[in-house]
Amino acid sequence: MPETKLIIALDVPTMDAARAALEKMKGLEVYYKVGPALFTGAGPACVELANRYGRGVFLDLKLHDIPNTVKSAVEQAARLGVFSLSVHSSGGPDMLRAAAAVPGRPKLWGITVLTSFDEVSFASVGFRAATAEAVDSLAGLARECGLDGVVASPNEAARLRAALGPAAEIITPGIRRAAGGDDQKRTMTPAEAAAAGADYIVVGRPVLGAPDPAAEAAAILEEIK
Ligand code: C5P
Repeated sequence: MPETKLIIALDVPTMDAARAALEKMKGLEVYYKVGPALFTGAGPACVELANRYGRGVFLDLKLHDIPNTVKSAVEQAARLGVFSLSVHSSGGPDMLRAAAAVPGRPKLWGITVLTSFDEVSFASVGFRAATAEAVDSLAGLARECGLDGVVASPNEAARLRAALGPAAEIITPGIRRAAGGDDQKRTMTPAEAAAAGADYIVVGRPVLGAPDPAAEAAAILEEIK
């Protein structure tokens, strides 16, 4: 089985907070995820900063717009030097193909269905399928349109691996070494997610909020080895 890699979600709002967190984890073989809060708060300089500390930056902006606008954003992400970028698979085939066609682009990972949706709220935005069915079809669409991988809950990883084959990258948030404590409900441990076929696991609060973030991250790395 290929190596499962650790992405730490740098869910802090400012450059100073990001620098402090990165200093604590200096030297670890991990990737960093920059999301909308840090990117909006600190600007592109936070990508440059995180790139100096980790193996690469996953820019998790979950883009969803008309094809030309998303294409331009992917071009700018390529200039920033991020190694991966997320887009919503529900942006549709034209948007996904326009993103995938950008020369020298980062890896593109398709968001399927946000885990914050339940069946009722999913129907309320006009989707007729059940969330699990929609995850499968949006993941298939992402791959057909040339994306490198999909972001999904760890509970969906084994099913998606079987459906998408060995080449698709599967990225799973919702990882906890022990259950309980916050808003992530359907979690898996790092080892379980790795066994289910995740190529990258995303962990935020359990690492950044630990008394010793470096020790916590090292323990996760050991678990997925
Ligand atoms: O702190 P925690 O480990 O829950 O962080 C998980 C990270 O993954 C957060 O940055 C969150 O926005 C992101 N995420 C998620 N569930 C998804 C997609 C992304 O928790 N379905």
